[in-house]
Amino acid sequence: MSQLTLVTRAGSHELPVELNQTVVAIAKKHKVVWGHACQRGVCAQCRTFVLEGAEFLNEVTKEEKLRLRKAERVEGFRLGCQIQVVQDGDVKLAHRPY
Ligand code: FES
Repeated sequence: MSQLTLVTRAGSHELPVELNQTVVAIAKKHKVVWGHACQRGVCAQCRTFVLEGAEFLNEVTKEEKLRLRKAERVEGFRLGCQIQVVQDGDVKLAHRPY
């Protein structure tokens, strides 16, 4: 079974992959602290660095294009409230707010 690893300041959490759910929603469900407020791609409290498995994620959303600088996106930053795993595979993400 594919694994979703969420890395926070408190440590690393290994969860089963759930398709088509945002990372913020999955973190909430499993009581992993993944800062967020708006869940609309505005506040960036959910800023996330993709460590592994970018190819299993949804396309960058228009909200992410508006909120994150192009250089950040190229480096691998996304927004946790926008990211969804859309294809089965191992994904590893780190919470990296500003
Ligand atoms: S929760 Fe505000 S941008 Fe993701």
